[in-house]
Amino acid sequence: MRLTERIRYVGVDDMRTDLFERQWPLPYGVSYNAYLVVDEKVALIDTAAAGFEDELLSNIKNEIGDKKIDYLVVNHMEPDHSALQKVILDEYPDCEIVTNAKAATMIEGYYGITDGIKVVKEGETLPLGGVSLRFHMIPMVHWPETMVTWCEEEKTLFSGDAFGTFKAVDKNVTDTKSGIFEDYKAEMTRYYACIVGKYGAPVQAALKKLNGLEIKRICSTHGPVWENSIPEVIALYNKLSLYEANPGVCLAYGTMYGNTEKAALALAEAIRSRGIPCAVHDLTTENYSFALRDVFNYDTLILGSPTYNNGIFPPVRQLMEAVVDRLVKGRKFFAFGSFTWAAASVKSLNELATAAGFEILSEGMPFKQGYSDDKFDASGLASLV
Ligand SMILES: Cc1cc2nc3c(=O)[nH]c(=O)nc-3n(C[C@H](O)[C@H](O)[C@H](O)COP(=O)(O)O)c2cc1C
Ligand SMILES: [Fe+2]
Ligand SMILES: [Fe+2]
Repeated sequence: MRLTERIRYVGVDDMRTDLFERQWPLPYGVSYNAYLVVDEKVALIDTAAAGFEDELLSNIKNEIGDKKIDYLVVNHMEPDHSALQKVILDEYPDCEIVTNAKAATMIEGYYGITDGIKVVKEGETLPLGGVSLRFHMIPMVHWPETMVTWCEEEKTLFSGDAFGTFKAVDKNVTDTKSGIFEDYKAEMTRYYACIVGKYGAPVQAALKKLNGLEIKRICSTHGPVWENSIPEVIALYNKLSLYEANPGVCLAYGTMYGNTEKAALALAEAIRSRGIPCAVHDLTTENYSFALRDVFNYDTLILGSPTYNNGIFPPVRQLMEAVVDRLVKGRKFFAFGSFTWAAASVKSLNELATAAGFEILSEGMPFKQGYSDDKFDASGLASLV
């Protein structure tokens, strides 16, 4: 598909993988975007995941017919984009790989390719004839070798995973239809929270580095090409990487026999009755990525866990560990949950939240055995607005 005379989309939609990285559900699929810059020389930017070789090659041939690819630019080595490098080299034996030194070692490590690699440095350019490509390193967004490729003449940023999102593109390769950014915002936030979330500081450094560019088009490796929503997309990344959140609550819980759940629903009702947004997630029936997304969305985290082996119920611990692992900052925190003989889950959760630097709203709401309204104590939540 033609984005401009020179820039073509040759990516693929994956509607058959259930779990991205074998852990993140894909209810709306995902795309692996690759692009061609067609000039006197032809450059392919990134490839796609294993299993999509025929589709990628056929998309390429549809754009350039029998013309050759001169360069394969490798922005990122995660196999969802690098898996088909060998397929491209087999089809186009004269094609030279263009990448940075760190990625070059990974190309050898993953695929055993050592020849025909042109190593570029920060700010180096590659002329293609009419236009040229310039490379900027954005380490740890979200791997050490990550870089972006900038085409000055087309004002186009090939950004790798940065500004990417779950949810296949279908016919929405570009965000020309109004409302596309809003359609993708939840999945973009979930992608960020799951995959990039730990790297807020490197994302900030990348945003500062790219700040001077007059960007007309962001071509990321997942989701739509951003043309009309660039300010919104950059603002979302800025906000997420600063761990800034909207007023509201992510209330996530686990339960074995329903007692902690009853308390969760009572708390959610009390919070919502005050006009405060409250997203509720049952971690025993839902993958924790959806709750993790809302930890990035909202400034208050409320976790419910029964006491389990003198500690936290494993599904709840999994979410809390994911939050800690992603260095989430500046959240208000409240915990609750049922126990039978010795309360431990709320205390353990409070300890983890304290270590993360969260503001503990109160001692929380541990309750003995069955839940009933007389055990309700949300006094700690009074300060929420
Ligand atoms: C394997 C297992 C381990 C448990 N460990 C503890 C414990 O260490 N201390 C405690 O007070 N209760 C413990 N419990 C009891 C639960 O906390 C209790 O069943 C609670 O009411 C469950 O809440 P729920 O209805 O929300 O699942 C344990 C229960 C199970 C099944
Ligand atoms: Fe990646
Ligand atoms: Fe990716």
